[in-house]
Amino acid sequence: MPPQESDTPPQASTGIDAARCVLVTGATSGIGRALALAIAALPSAPTVVAAGRRAARLAELAQVKGVEPLALALGGDLGPLKEAADALIARFPDLDTLILNAGVQYPTNFQRDTADDILPRVLDELAVNYTSVVALITYLLPHLLKLAATGRACAIVVVTSAVGIVPAPLVPTYCASKAALRSFASSLRVQLAGTGVRVMDIIPPLVESELHDAQGTTAVLSKIWMPLDEFTKSVMEGLQAGNDYIPVGFGAQLFEKFEKGKDEISKQLARNP
Ligand SMILES: NC(=O)c1ccc[n+]([C@@H]2O[C@H](COP(=O)([O-])OP(=O)(O)OC[C@H]3O[C@@H](n4cnc5c(N)ncnc54)[C@H](OP(=O)(O)O)[C@@H]3O)[C@@H](O)[C@H]2O)c1
Repeated sequence: MPPQESDTPPQASTGIDAARCVLVTGATSGIGRALALAIAALPSAPTVVAAGRRAARLAELAQVKGVEPLALALGGDLGPLKEAADALIARFPDLDTLILNAGVQYPTNFQRDTADDILPRVLDELAVNYTSVVALITYLLPHLLKLAATGRACAIVVVTSAVGIVPAPLVPTYCASKAALRSFASSLRVQLAGTGVRVMDIIPPLVESELHDAQGTTAVLSKIWMPLDEFTKSVMEGLQAGNDYIPVGFGAQLFEKFEKGKDEISKQLARNP
């Protein structure tokens, strides 16, 4: 009798379904929270370490099955991040996937704002959106490489932005920080090829979240943003497929138009510096 479909062994997944323990930064609201909950609800039931600063939100997340809350502040000195990374590995030795999602955005008007307004925001945006992300990766990478060498699928996922491809002039440093992170992730992917540690880049369009609350622009933006559910569904499909790039909506349009072919040139630059 020919083998029935149900006799076929399931294919080993290289995507998020294979993850056993996933860190999600910025999990106390918006995109990070939605991804943390969606990943915790996967049939594979990985542990999700949901990080953020707001204690009440972390306490709510602690009620969700499979979710472990983690108080983690990004930005500022890097020393505490090294301690946090070491503590994370000690507590969760199965940690195999990083979703580095936390971010901030500040509008800046170079005609109107003063240097005292502008420069602290520049430092914070770069520290939270870029330097802290690179620092966490740097501190956690030796652990991931060791785990990957045992055959475990490991992944580093950054959350960048459509405006990291084409800048939105009202938020200049935000766009620069996301362009920097996108560029960094592309180089890292080439450097880590063959190690078993994948590097993935989620490229959102404007999405329903709290990112714009502090700017007072949520009411206007909510008329045009992508609903969080729709965005999360699309990203989960990309994470499950293990795609290097997960561009969504306007992010996908800009990715198609401006990013295609860059990786091939980057690989050539790796061979011929
Ligand atoms: N929504 C969009 O339209 C959009 C578009 C493109 C890209 N993105 C990116 O998507 C990511 C998630 O943003 P979101 O839209 O979901 O915004 P959000 O709702 O404002 O969430 C931001 C998250 O980052 C955390 N966070 C902020 N500053 C932090 C700090 N200094 N230390 C630690 N955690 C910090 C916040 O948690 P605590 O305050 O509890 O720490 C919160 O959980 C960001 O990287 C953002 O740039 C968003």
